[in-house]
Amino acid sequence: MADFRVFPSGPLGGRVRVPGDKSIGHRAVLFAGLARGVVEVTGLSGGEDNQRTVAALRALGVRIEPAADGALIVHGVGVDGLRAAPGPIDCGNSGTSMRLLAGLLAAQPFASTLVGDEYLHRRPMRRVAEPLTRMGARVTGTTGTRAGELYPPLTLEGGALSGIDCSLEIASAQVKSAILLAGLFARGATVVREPGPSRDHTERLLATLGAPVTTPAPLTSCVDPTGWDRTLLARPLHVPGDPSSSAFLLAAGLLAGVTAAGLVVEGVCVNPTRTGFLDALRAMGAEILVEHERVVGGEPIADLVLRATGDLVGATLEGALVVRAIDEIPVLCAVAARARGVTVVRNAEELRVKESDRIVTTVRALRALGVRAEERPDGLVIEGDPSRPLTPGAVDSAGDHRIAMAAVVAALTASGPCLVRDVDNVATSFPGFARLLTDLGARVDPS
Ligand code: S3P
Repeated sequence: MADFRVFPSGPLGGRVRVPGDKSIGHRAVLFAGLARGVVEVTGLSGGEDNQRTVAALRALGVRIEPAADGALIVHGVGVDGLRAAPGPIDCGNSGTSMRLLAGLLAAQPFASTLVGDEYLHRRPMRRVAEPLTRMGARVTGTTGTRAGELYPPLTLEGGALSGIDCSLEIASAQVKSAILLAGLFARGATVVREPGPSRDHTERLLATLGAPVTTPAPLTSCVDPTGWDRTLLARPLHVPGDPSSSAFLLAAGLLAGVTAAGLVVEGVCVNPTRTGFLDALRAMGAEILVEHERVVGGEPIADLVLRATGDLVGATLEGALVVRAIDEIPVLCAVAARARGVTVVRNAEELRVKESDRIVTTVRALRALGVRAEERPDGLVIEGDPSRPLTPGAVDSAGDHRIAMAAVVAALTASGPCLVRDVDNVATSFPGFARLLTDLGARVDPS
């Protein structure tokens, strides 16, 4: 099990690129596998989570070859061309792989079983099983700690689904995407309504490839395959830089300071369903510029620029902003530790069912570095102090990549070296994280 030793950091600066977006990477590979023809997918992160989706598609009969610079050549089998995997499909740590595949496989005329690692086996699956069952699939799993909940391994037996109109209790792009994917194979239209703006990469990418997917009203997504020629176009797909990964670097710059050259993260996806962290950082007094915005493959991308760090102040993060920054809350809390006043995170109970219970693990990580932080049922409260460096300490990642990286960022502003334990999981989403921070001027040593 690897650890990071993190040293107090001076100002950071330089121009870097982060690996490709994890969410878009899963979808690009998945939809390329269903396309009619050969698709080159470029910009992929090489992260372990995306590789799980690649391996799953191979098991389902899709030929995928590596190409230069981490690109993949995917020989799409067509929407109706998948065949049964020879055994259980291992999704590793990847909740997105499991939930998206659950939707796709619930619609196939063969049975499939999805398994994962010990962390994924603790994550709730009733949220996908219930709507898929309503569409006509048979979904079985294991019962676990919480009454009425369903956990992996998941077995899906389906085919012959019918469209549904459903209102989700929680905003979740994974659940929405699972239902939309099943809806591609169902009789009639499927409509998904959400209480908040979850990421819309599935809708954008499927529509770009010619699928009958629309967003007829705010917070409403629809797929209606009636009359569709069942063709997903074989177009080259490029995965833009991961905004969630960029958040760690920008937060590091905000805490450690930036050099006169500034800190620039190039080619980042700035889809508005993903930029809640920028709004949150701005509410905390940060000035981050969005430059050279353009649209590539249906997604807006831009360079994110931090030229100076002013005084940071605490903020209240709640409602739709939390949905749009759901994966960045741990690192926003690291920034809050050095902001003047109190930061309150509300309406964030979803954090409890991520790769770890991120309300518990964020509070624990910050406290290990001397920060005053408290748990609330639906979020957390942090008492920031810009005048006091954090206390050197050791943080356990709890097997969660984003807790590991948030702890590294916080530790850059401690008064002495810190240890972040169990950091292998960083490779699930952000291969090269420590090297990129080092390129910017920090010292993060593997140990
Ligand atoms: C993701 C959706 C979010 C997010 C996860 C990736 C996706 O999860 O936290 O990291 O790619 O659809 P939920 O759908 O559970 O909110």
